[in-house]
Amino acid sequence: MSGEHGLSEISKENIHASQQASETRIEKSVPPYDKATCSNGIIDLAVAVNKLNENEILQFLNKANRIEKHNLDYGSSYGSVKLRTAISGVINRHFMPHHNIVPDDIIVTNGCTAALDLLTSVMCNPGDAILVSAPFYSKFETDMYVKSRGRVYPVYVPVNEVESEDQVKYFEAKITELKKSGEITPKVLVVCNPHNPLGKCYPERTIKALLRFANRHSIYVVMDEIYALSVYRTPEDVSTDKSDNTDVVYPFKSVLSFENLSEIIDPSLVIVLHGLSKDFCMNGLRMGWVVSPFNKNFVIAAKVISKIYFISSTTDSLVTNFLSDTEFIDNFISTNQRRLKENYYKITEYLTRNNVSYVSACAGVYIWVDLRRQLMVWKNKNLRPGQAQVTSVEQLTFDDEGEMWASAINIGRVCIVSGQPFKSTEPGWFRIILAIPWETLELGLDRLLGFLLK
Ligand SMILES: Cc1ncc(COP(=O)(O)O)c(C=O)c1O
Repeated sequence: MSGEHGLSEISKENIHASQQASETRIEKSVPPYDKATCSNGIIDLAVAVNKLNENEILQFLNKANRIEKHNLDYGSSYGSVKLRTAISGVINRHFMPHHNIVPDDIIVTNGCTAALDLLTSVMCNPGDAILVSAPFYSKFETDMYVKSRGRVYPVYVPVNEVESEDQVKYFEAKITELKKSGEITPKVLVVCNPHNPLGKCYPERTIKALLRFANRHSIYVVMDEIYALSVYRTPEDVSTDKSDNTDVVYPFKSVLSFENLSEIIDPSLVIVLHGLSKDFCMNGLRMGWVVSPFNKNFVIAAKVISKIYFISSTTDSLVTNFLSDTEFIDNFISTNQRRLKENYYKITEYLTRNNVSYVSACAGVYIWVDLRRQLMVWKNKNLRPGQAQVTSVEQLTFDDEGEMWASAINIGRVCIVSGQPFKSTEPGWFRIILAIPWETLELGLDRLLGFLLK
């Protein structure tokens, strides 16, 4: 049997989608940057990882790592009681839940990616609609689709309205449009708080407005709180920084901490995501968790599906040791936040000095940057035969953005993420990672601006 003959319709569609996506203009052979061994390699400022705490994590894990007899066995598909107890400890200490979270509220998965697939299977029939405010973490679209066939519909919320409760009007308009078609069932609202890619926390009143919206339409709310402990600036930090009065920071407030949740929404509609990849800088261990304190049927259905995925027994033990060391974890969280904050101030000072606008942030490992003017300069230096000079940023296209992105990798030796996969509406916005040691980050920024402007 060759080609696609015999494959499921789902797989045929997935193959076509992935072939389209991989039609990039990247030279495959360019190796990653390494100061000692490959100084001309690509500096990765694209993947949302945190490289600021590698030494501490490696030291801890190498000391704690001991494979025992029971690690050779299957263990629990959704996390041992010990592991879920350690996770609930982190949540109870740091998310300030209104009701204590207990191990039975938690299902551990192979990363939040797997959790997104799992919860889509539990909540959606194929084709059901999932609403997400755009720009959004681009993999929501694929993670909730490739297997479970949930359909993500972007809801365009202007960046300057992202903290406003009035944004509900855009969600109402989208749901009316979907319902009008008569064929699409809206099922889920995903709220990424703190926001990826904007690096902002939603104010409490805005989360409440979104919850009320979901309740009115009886749809689930998935609160993706994967960056909950990577909030590095508080309202107090901003009040001492008088230089910029457009810079407003809201404190992170987990939905689990809402006192009167049942007055706002049927709590069984609310599910929370968190995991190891961002706040604990260990994306390679592949572990995330779904927290569902208000919907036992969801937990039962999710446990059934978890049986085909099974987290690794070894990772279960290792992470149990790690998360159970409360003194280490609590110090680690505050050290990480301090390092993120230092890098945020360094990168924003660098961007300001080089006339690059950005959206002020307080959380996450990235910053959302407006490179439209620089893209215009680059475009005018790289016009194809017959192309006219670009005289305003409004004339830029997503093709220009994509070409510049690919050339930045191939020629500039630096990789950032362009706005198009995030469903940005204006060509020329990019997400840049800030959670890597400053020396490499600064070199990456120098390369980027040098490539664009010289
Ligand atoms: C908002 C958001 N959700 C989920 C994920 C997936 O994380 P994991 O590594 O746990 O699969 C990411 C990773 O970038 C993310 O940014």
